[in-house]
Amino acid sequence: MIDIHCHILHGVDDGARDLEESVAMARIAYEDGIRDIIATPHFHPVFLTTADVVHRKLEELERELERQRIDVRLHPGNEVQIVSAEFVAAHTRSRSFAYLGRPGTHLLIEQRWSGYDPATPEIVERLLDAGVTPVLAHPERHAFFRDDAELLPKLVELGVWTQVSADSLVGNFGAEPQRYGRMLIQAGLVHTIATDAHNVNRKPNLGAGMAVFEELAGAEARSELEARMRSIVAG
Ligand SMILES: [Fe+2]
Repeated sequence: MIDIHCHILHGVDDGARDLEESVAMARIAYEDGIRDIIATPHFHPVFLTTADVVHRKLEELERELERQRIDVRLHPGNEVQIVSAEFVAAHTRSRSFAYLGRPGTHLLIEQRWSGYDPATPEIVERLLDAGVTPVLAHPERHAFFRDDAELLPKLVELGVWTQVSADSLVGNFGAEPQRYGRMLIQAGLVHTIATDAHNVNRKPNLGAGMAVFEELAGAEARSELEARMRSIVAG
């Protein structure tokens, strides 16, 4: 399995504190059946983890995983917050953030926690015009998506992929994200599932999330989901 959203890089954001914790997370991921991880540190005003830092930290961790013989491949990425349309546009121009995987055909975007950004459709269209598929991080965790039945389906219609978190599906974020996340699966609105793991407690648990997906959508849909997720790093 591939995890497309994980804060495994050490000492850059509120994810792994140090290399030791990154390695511990990789071990847990391996045990969970994960063989590829896209490292997606935050890219927002508090943790502005730029692409050069992502690549440098990724190489450090890769060397350590190789040394300890942990067979997990790492890929670069970022979780870019939609702070504003101008924030995304300016940092796109300056190539400050990393797209998902090396082909750079997908971008993990996240809404602000304070409220939905009405410029989202415009940002999405600009990305799509540039040949980039936006992958929206954990919409099920945002009340504004749960409260407005039309909001998310409209973004999906534009071409957005959704990323539902395994933790939501198993109930670790409470009843509402769990209910809405499961409803999205049943409605065929889930394009990817990821862990958004931050440490060894909020840990890589993709297997549990995929099991919920398969239970609700069936084995064939799971195969399609896994192929779609693999395509992000394959280009
Ligand atoms: Fe995240």
